[in-house]
Amino acid sequence: MAKTYYITTPIYYPSGKLHIGNTYTTVLCDALRRYKDLRGYDSFYLTGMDEHGKKIETVANENDVSPIEHVDEMARQTRELWDRLKISYDDFIRTTEKRHKTVVQKIFERLLDQGDIYLGTYSGYYCMHCESFFTESQLEEGNTCPDCGREVSWLEEESYFLKLSKYQDRLLQFIEDNPDFITPESRRNEVLAFIRQGLNDLSVSRTTFDWGIKVISDPKHVVYVWIDALSNYISALGYGTDNDDLFQKYWNGDEVVHVVGKDILRFHAIFWPIMLMALDIPVTFKLHAHGFYMMKDGKMSKSKGGVIYPDTLLKHYGLDELRYYLLRELPYGGDGLFTPETFVDRINFDLANDFGNLLNRTVTMINKYFGGSVSYNETGTMPVDEDFEALLKETPEAYARSMEDLKVSQAIKSLWRLISRTNKYIDETTPWILAKDEAKKNELENVLYHLSDSLRQIGIMLKPILLEASEALFRQLGVNEDKRDWDALIYGAQPTFNVIHKGTPLFPRLDVEEEVDKLKKIVRGDDDTIASGEEDLNLATIDDFAKLDLRVAEIKTAKPHPNADKLLVLKVDAGENKMRQIVAGIAKHYEVDALVGKKIVIIRNLEPVTLRGEKSEGMLLAGSGKNRMEVLEVTGLKPGDSIS
Ligand code: MSP
Repeated sequence: MAKTYYITTPIYYPSGKLHIGNTYTTVLCDALRRYKDLRGYDSFYLTGMDEHGKKIETVANENDVSPIEHVDEMARQTRELWDRLKISYDDFIRTTEKRHKTVVQKIFERLLDQGDIYLGTYSGYYCMHCESFFTESQLEEGNTCPDCGREVSWLEEESYFLKLSKYQDRLLQFIEDNPDFITPESRRNEVLAFIRQGLNDLSVSRTTFDWGIKVISDPKHVVYVWIDALSNYISALGYGTDNDDLFQKYWNGDEVVHVVGKDILRFHAIFWPIMLMALDIPVTFKLHAHGFYMMKDGKMSKSKGGVIYPDTLLKHYGLDELRYYLLRELPYGGDGLFTPETFVDRINFDLANDFGNLLNRTVTMINKYFGGSVSYNETGTMPVDEDFEALLKETPEAYARSMEDLKVSQAIKSLWRLISRTNKYIDETTPWILAKDEAKKNELENVLYHLSDSLRQIGIMLKPILLEASEALFRQLGVNEDKRDWDALIYGAQPTFNVIHKGTPLFPRLDVEEEVDKLKKIVRGDDDTIASGEEDLNLATIDDFAKLDLRVAEIKTAKPHPNADKLLVLKVDAGENKMRQIVAGIAKHYEVDALVGKKIVIIRNLEPVTLRGEKSEGMLLAGSGKNRMEVLEVTGLKPGDSIS
């Protein structure tokens, strides 16, 4: 039976739009779960929203909506974002859901019954504006609030407390006995030092606001937001309900990982295991706390040093570009800086030059020298092969070790070491010189085979990182379906590569100056149309549209344009008594044979033009996406039918 893997992100506060800092955690978990899937695990990925608390109530009030209306809308937007980022989550838990609330209430009552939660008085300096308590040493000069600077007052409030002190020694022992419970090690040391200072019991209820889960036995209290939030990791699996199959399978399974940012380390490293211990639930999870994405002027926040949103980067640059940047740029254990320059450089150097160009060159050479097909050819073996093959053989292990240790940026680095080595192999073997000598045909095939097989293996390891480019690589190289998995990471696993006729280059190079400029404006927020993804619309009237005579036409013949690489010359039947010739700029996207017989849409009354010596009587309609163009097709209609 497959081993199980349960991975979670923190559940996000729906207080504002998610920026690339929060998005990082979600993308990181997505890459890790995809990696585990590649290794044959049975995995489960949980994310969601932390929807209670004073702050949410305030934001909803400010927006003139009820808290539930506010969180419903934020949850909708967040799920939409994760879907656009192709996040492979299995469940999305919201703390306002009944399935969660009942579990939290049960947990609270149980801890109360067994005496781990008790009623006491919370006292401290209270800031009315921030709704927060502070100790004397936290206050600013003149007894003012360290957050807003307003005057604070001494307040005593009835509150329930969780007996952290009772579990302190057990927790310390647990962390000492399990050196890999918290990673990186620096974070583990922080936690140990904090516990050794002694833990105070934790206030776990509030009476100052309503937007939370009510304590069943004392409904003037709502459950403190962290007890509520942390329980999501087990409530989503059905813990404490009649159907706890998922809980049994994944929580008590082989591997459980919580990934969090460093700011919420203590909650996860101290409160959560103590809650579990008190509930007699095994502490099966490993905790990983990553650093922060910062902006040049400090923390990512709208008011301070600017902020950057994932949907903006997605729209302007693409999914793999965003994933690659986020996963590559944040060093293990540390913080990372988001800058427009590094963003554009990563795309241009790593993705376009090193990787995209390597694939494109390989496909082009296989077409040029071998008519699109190369096979394993032992007779062409060369002395340089050995060194190259050695790295090819080592890379999966190095990559896997880093991924297992959650060092995704390092795993990517080892992949790029192989990509660079593969590029170097081209320089060492100079296939264009081998091609000039018929006697070197075997060597040439051996070289191109090595390139293809290295790329195939790179494609397998890229699957968790670059979702679209790894697929494009397999398609362009003609990698067999059964040679795309982890166990096919063996040199020679696929004996022959039949590549496509002409591959669309992946990751076109960006104009550095233009893009850096654009990104700077986005970060500063002084270009709202770019930042929000809206474009100026050039309005057309219905009369403008009515001028066009749109018709169904069937493609009868298609051939390359004699004088232009990008153009094709088509003869189409548009229901008239003669064929029409149309010149179309789609040569990079279609094989001529694949076009014949397609029923497409053309503009019939476009003024005829001559393009590089060929007459064009009309224009076909096609849609363009990133790196891709598709001719519009119809199925049921016949040539000459009109379209309006
Ligand atoms: N609701 C709590 C988590 C409860 S989990 C039981 C919370 N939410 S949050 O929306 O404020 O933050 C969610 C995550 O985003 C946290 O892991 C936080 O560390 C992370 N990040 C927030 N800003 C970040 C960066 N600039 N960079 C990287 N991660 C960042 O905390």
